Amino acid sequence: MSGEKKKVGDGLQDVVATSSAICRIDIEDGRGVLEYRGYDIHDLAQNSNFEEVAYLLLFGELPRKKELELFKEELKERRDLPPQIIGLLTHLPPFTHPMVVLRTAISYLGSMDKYIHFKSHERSIEKAKSLIAKFPTIVAYHHRIRTGQNLIHPDFELGHAANFLYMLHGEVPSETEEKSLDLDLILHADHEFNASTFAARTAASTLADIYACVVAATGTLMGPLHGGASQRVMEMLREVAVPWRAESYVKEKLERGERIMGFGHRVYRQVMDPRTIELRVLAKKLAEEKEPKWVEISEAIAEAVYKYKGLLPNVDFYSASIYANLGIPDDLFINMFALSRISGWVSHIIEQYENNRLIRPRAQYIGADSREYKSLNGRK
Ligand code: ACO
Repeated sequence: MSGEKKKVGDGLQDVVATSSAICRIDIEDGRGVLEYRGYDIHDLAQNSNFEEVAYLLLFGELPRKKELELFKEELKERRDLPPQIIGLLTHLPPFTHPMVVLRTAISYLGSMDKYIHFKSHERSIEKAKSLIAKFPTIVAYHHRIRTGQNLIHPDFELGHAANFLYMLHGEVPSETEEKSLDLDLILHADHEFNASTFAARTAASTLADIYACVVAATGTLMGPLHGGASQRVMEMLREVAVPWRAESYVKEKLERGERIMGFGHRVYRQVMDPRTIELRVLAKKLAEEKEPKWVEISEAIAEAVYKYKGLLPNVDFYSASIYANLGIPDDLFINMFALSRISGWVSHIIEQYENNRLIRPRAQYIGADSREYKSLNGRK
């Protein structure tokens, strides 16, 4: 290795890879801005619902009343899984992580689509609706199977969020639970060129099929530096266990040079992620009706991380308390993220297909200088 060569910045920080009309992130007047198709995330959080947001991301405009009703019906009609997928969920080893299950099921769904390689706008939208609709059923069915419980089939009277909780727990959720999950889904739906979306778009730029692109995204989301952080946050909340232990836990972890999961962000470096603002309020509200300790420990950890490292919580931090209070098992937290982000992924994949140029960057070479090949006997 020639050590003197200067390395270009790692991680593509601040690099604009291509253009997109789906999501805008910015820092304006010292605050983080996030918009889906020009609509502010706070407005959407207060007034919208997941189905409407998914429609907005996919089609670029808010639906009119009839369009939203039709879209909701179309999602409901596509919730069922083919028996082969249920068979797959039954046969995977019980220790398989639910995110690995999800990406395997997506790949299997692709193998069953006769039109897998068709990429017209209409075909892609059809596949997108089917994936958005089926994600919750895959996650809930697999969880019921691995815990030895009977399958709860989709309830066509219930909306996207309520139906997922119903299929998972076997009970229709309360209004608070339904609204909480719905809001969580709105907030996680898209976030510009995050790692998983970039993986999806890179795959799409080769004109790979939509299932392959979603598998790439799902695998990428699982990493602990991306969506995988929420499960680690919950492990930390359980380890800390009481708010008064948070400060010493954080201090010691930072002294050992370890990262605190759920903190820091590549784009919102000095400002609060606008999604975190909404999620914090939601987590506190839910805690009033449910278990308050998760959010109390979270607040104590956030205070300590800011004190010792000046870092702010990211979208994965308060999500953990919310999921815990919705009775979601820890190892389904990343899947919860995927249930929402699928709407952003498919919108980006379709945008890439429709304005495509192969994504193929370069690497700065920092390896050995050119040298002569030596035969096996001549090597020292
Ligand atoms: N805990 C402790 N220190 C941290 C953390 C953290 N969570 N995040 C960043 N830092 C520190 C780094 O050590 C570095 O410190 P230094 O300047 O003293 O060396 C400084 O902050 C800058 O960090 P970078 O590594 O340059 O930040 P980068 O933009 O590459 O990483 C990332 C962003 C991966 C999100 C990082 O903050 C992290 O690892 N966070 C924990 C994992 C996490 O929560 N991921 C979810 C992100 S949100 C999402 O993807 C949905």
